[in-house]
Amino acid sequence: MLILLALLATQGPAQFTGNAICGDCHRNIVKRYAATTMSREGVLCENCHGPANLHAQGAARLEIPTALDPAPRDAVCAQCHFTGAARILKPNRDLARFRAGDLLTSYASSFIYVAAPEIGGGKTEQFALSRCRQKSPDLWCGSCHDTHSGKTDRTLCQSCHTPQQCNRGKDCISCHMPQNDHRIARRKTPPRSPTWQIRPFTASDNAPRELGLAYYELWTKSRNAQQQGEALRLLANLPKKDAKVTSALNSLRKAGSNQP
Ligand code: HEC
Ligand code: HEC
Ligand code: HEC
Ligand code: HEC
Ligand code: HEC
Ligand code: HEC
Repeated sequence: MLILLALLATQGPAQFTGNAICGDCHRNIVKRYAATTMSREGVLCENCHGPANLHAQGAARLEIPTALDPAPRDAVCAQCHFTGAARILKPNRDLARFRAGDLLTSYASSFIYVAAPEIGGGKTEQFALSRCRQKSPDLWCGSCHDTHSGKTDRTLCQSCHTPQQCNRGKDCISCHMPQNDHRIARRKTPPRSPTWQIRPFTASDNAPRELGLAYYELWTKSRNAQQQGEALRLLANLPKKDAKVTSALNSLRKAGSNQP
């Protein structure tokens, strides 16, 4: 502990340092990872392992996602692969400061559509609806996706399911995950339409400020009167010092009075 404090005093808290230096000691991983889509999209080793400047000097350990508890483990992927209907930052929080090991709910609240919870830009919202996942919380994104190589294991299904359960063919994915549908449903499920209502993704996403701001954000695109009403109802009684809340209330009220 004393050594750690001394290190922090001389070097400050850990910082991101980039992928290049990792190759000095993790040559194979760096080489494989460089060819993946995520690497080309700019995702750093440190986005999944935590800031590594001290580690690269031999002075600190990093996080291994699979060694984390399920919630922070899932957050490593969800920081980027979860949009849902809306995601609202908590006061004075910045997702750029997210570090592997953190909970997503410490930074932001996430909301999904009540009528179509699978709709969103990430896969997290779909995967949460999968029976496989609901019944086996150890099943996570990294079970099928080897992110160092960019390869996907399409045969993992058979480690849990037997031919007695379904003997309709070996290519489980083509029938149970059409169009990359991560709900892994029994049958191809036709797309549902969202209605105006949203709900918190987890119990810790349930705060009136973030729910109100989520309705506000959706309303700015939809101009749906019910979303406007919910946003007004939820935000109206919050403390006035919050600049985001004040500005949302201003535009909600202005639009309200302009209505024909
Ligand atoms: C998208 C997330 C992600 C990215 C990006 C990523 N890793 Fe990993 N890494 C993991 C996961 C998950 C594990 C655990 C694998 C397991 O337990 O099967 C892991 C394990 C490791 C390990 C320890 C176990 C081993 O395989 O030797 C090292 C070292 C490592 N990663 C280095 C790197 C380096 C270096 C980079 C960048 C070139 C990188 N990782 C990029 C997710 C990631
Ligand atoms: C100077 C050599 C060196 C550099 C540079 C280096 N590592 Fe490591 N790394 C190691 C060693 C040695 C281990 C094994 C530690 C152990 O098992 O005691 C390790 C282990 C890891 C682990 C497993 C968790 C842990 O801390 O044991 C991860 C993840 C990891 N490195 C990622 C990275 C990433 C990402 C970078 C670049 C930002 C990087 N490393 C740069 C030497 C290095
Ligand atoms: C820092 C942001 C970030 C993190 C963290 C991240 N991803 Fe990605 N991922 C991306 C981006 C950007 C793309 C490319 C655009 C797309 O396909 O969504 C991508 C693409 C992918 C793809 C499709 C491309 C391919 O290589 O097949 C998979 C699968 C994937 N990510 C899985 C994961 C998993 C699993 C984790 C957690 C262990 C993870 N990602 C963590 C940003 C991230
Ligand atoms: C870690 C184990 C595990 C893995 C891997 C796994 N499943 Fe499952 N799956 C389960 C469990 C447990 C259930 C729930 C069974 C029940 O409800 O009795 C389930 C349920 C299902 C169902 C029924 C869904 C429903 O809504 O009733 C289908 C279809 C299915 N899995 C297909 C797959 C396919 C395809 C894969 C590979 C892409 C896969 N599973 C991977 C454990 C797993
Ligand atoms: C049971 C296996 C399995 C699990 C668990 C799983 N995936 Fe996938 N994923 C697949 C398969 C199969 C594909 C189809 C593409 C392929 O074969 O590479 C895919 C494709 C993707 C793609 C690229 C396609 C697209 O539409 O953008 C992304 C991104 C992705 N998965 C992210 C995730 C994330 C994030 C999680 C966790 C929330 C996750 N996956 C969990 C099996 C899985
Ligand atoms: C040709 C399409 C097809 C293929 C390939 C396929 N399945 Fe299925 N699967 C189905 C259909 C259709 C059902 C039945 C759905 C229903 O009863 O509503 C089903 C049902 C299931 C169930 C639920 C069984 C139950 O009674 O609870 C599981 C689990 C499952 N499949 C897993 C798999 C696995 C694992 C693979 C790959 C080894 C696979 N399926 C390959 C179409 C397919």
